[in-house]
Amino acid sequence: MISQNSIQQILSRIDIIEVVGTFIKLRKRGTSYLGLCPFHNEKTPSFTVSPAKEIYKCFGCGRSGNTIGFLMEHEKYSYVEALRWLANRYNVEIEETETSPEFKALQQTADSLYIINGFAQKIFSEALFNTDEGRDIALSYLQERGFREEIIKKFGLGYNSEQRDSFAKAAIAAQYNPDYLQKTGLVVLRDEKLVDNYRGRIIFPIHNQSGKVLGFGARIIKKNDRAPKYINTPENEIYVKSKLLYGSYFARMAIDKADECLLVEGYTDVVSLHQAGIENVVASGGTALTPDQLRLIRKYTNNLTIIYDGDNAGIKAALRGLDLALEESLNVQLVLIPDGEDPDSYVNKVGAAAFTSFIAQNKKDVILFQLEIALRDAGNDSNKKSAVVNQIAETIARVNKAEDFTKQQDYIKRCSQMLRIEESGLHTLVNKFIRERVVKEEGRRNREDAFPTGDDGQTPPAGTDDAVLALLQKDEMQERAFVRSLLEWGLKPWTETQRVADYVFEEIAENQLDELIDNKALVRVTHLYKAWYNEGLEPTPKNFLYYDDLTLSTLVVNIMDVNAEISPNWKEHYEGHIATREELFREEVFSTLNYLKLRKIKRLIDENQLDLEKPHTAEEQIILLQTHQHLKQMEISLTKTLGTVIYR
Ligand code: GTP
Ligand code: MN
Repeated sequence: MISQNSIQQILSRIDIIEVVGTFIKLRKRGTSYLGLCPFHNEKTPSFTVSPAKEIYKCFGCGRSGNTIGFLMEHEKYSYVEALRWLANRYNVEIEETETSPEFKALQQTADSLYIINGFAQKIFSEALFNTDEGRDIALSYLQERGFREEIIKKFGLGYNSEQRDSFAKAAIAAQYNPDYLQKTGLVVLRDEKLVDNYRGRIIFPIHNQSGKVLGFGARIIKKNDRAPKYINTPENEIYVKSKLLYGSYFARMAIDKADECLLVEGYTDVVSLHQAGIENVVASGGTALTPDQLRLIRKYTNNLTIIYDGDNAGIKAALRGLDLALEESLNVQLVLIPDGEDPDSYVNKVGAAAFTSFIAQNKKDVILFQLEIALRDAGNDSNKKSAVVNQIAETIARVNKAEDFTKQQDYIKRCSQMLRIEESGLHTLVNKFIRERVVKEEGRRNREDAFPTGDDGQTPPAGTDDAVLALLQKDEMQERAFVRSLLEWGLKPWTETQRVADYVFEEIAENQLDELIDNKALVRVTHLYKAWYNEGLEPTPKNFLYYDDLTLSTLVVNIMDVNAEISPNWKEHYEGHIATREELFREEVFSTLNYLKLRKIKRLIDENQLDLEKPHTAEEQIILLQTHQHLKQMEISLTKTLGTVIYR
């Protein structure tokens, strides 16, 4: 691991203009720099870099982040890779810290497995091209299927002989460790002898993001009902099936360029499409997509197109992972290949151009597709149809990010047309599912009842679905406003002896952060701030900017983005005033903090109210009533103090 000291050195030298300027032409405009956004197509520049804030932001596509985030996004580096790139750029010598023995052992095993896999890949490739058995049995088979030598070499395909132990022998002769050899799954122990696991099979190496071989898929050549068609590497330190997509190493540039990822089932589909010049394609092996695989895709694009054979049972498996994709804001489309073909056979049959246009013309939105299938299955059965309505509402409810709001509305419209039901009815149902999910996720009962009831006169009445949605968003804005005021004004003097941060942490010590703030990431930011502050550090937003967790650093970038986010109250009450936020920092700190407190008290009152409605002994009843009184008192006095600040 890179030592903290080296990281500090690297961070202190970062010049965002210089780094971003390596990749993009930037022009100075005022205090910031402007250029064409590398993340979306544009003719007029809307990509801004602020040297003072050390962040970039595109006003066209909304992407933003810090220097490291830029390198990660633009160059697809990991955090550590980005650091190493910067170290190299600024001639900082990287000091590696002592790692734990467990970590070292793990690293060592991983290294050994990679080395053995690399060795094996060469042996298999050698066997395919340079042995009689390989050429006669395997190469001829591949050629018959239409694979040309160039593509076979690019993907590193190979062959392992039908003999008992041809690979095992070579590996032992090369003095590889027998334990590691078994871990790779290439050999197994039989009667105390190492023998080959993949005999008489075509070998497909599976690469990681940087082109190293993680494992293999081995396809049988001769038809044999007793043996599985494919054997894959067993899970080990480097081969983790749920985290990989076959072909991702060869596809990454093309996915980035096309801003679309095609997903197919099989190894041969990937290789054939590549050969046809369609390179933005990866394979899942026919199982449900996992969160890690979706994340891998999301690194490059938001557009996923699943291409499956029409009559394949695997389609259900593929669709199972998709609820997650929707939550992650991926646009998922689906194309079914007709007539019992798969992408490999179909592209070989019709050619690249026809294949591409078939995909373009037959893409269906995956939600609408699911609905179509379900409606067909339901026929005229009204019970089944109502189940379909419920199910689709639940799916649409998962499209639930602020930025996807229009998309969600669009789904509601189109699905209600297909279902021939009232749009508003489906709308209500979708909102019900959103609410249920919120309640479930946050483990809070009767969330709807616990909302503040809108004393400020502009909050819509609680209880209606739209009101709940609006409140959800508003609530989050309030939390952000509080965290932002802490980040921004925390080091300012509050009293003669106290700073803002002292005041804030004194105030919420009794209250507990996680009870005041619902959003877990915001809680983490606040906790971190507190920890750093208590250590004597003087935390500023910059500390978060380079924090080794992109969720947090991006969150902070967004919170600090003044124009994008102003707490609803503040916008209202200070618009048109001459006072700047800086001049009003006390009020901001005070009111954002106390708003959250007030919200909590209101929730407590509601909970207490619910409790009161249950049967109780007289004694308990009294205590509950007293609690109610007490809470009400607190609510009134808080509302008053808040009112005097906001409305003065
Ligand atoms: P070809 O028949 O050679 O065209 O291969 P394919 O890739 O089209 O195979 P198929 O459509 O039958 O299966 C799709 C994918 O599922 C394969 O690429 C494998 O990843 C996986 N798969 C298929 N059969 C097996 C099997 O028997 N065992 C395992 N573990 N995986 C399999
Ligand atoms: Mn096939």
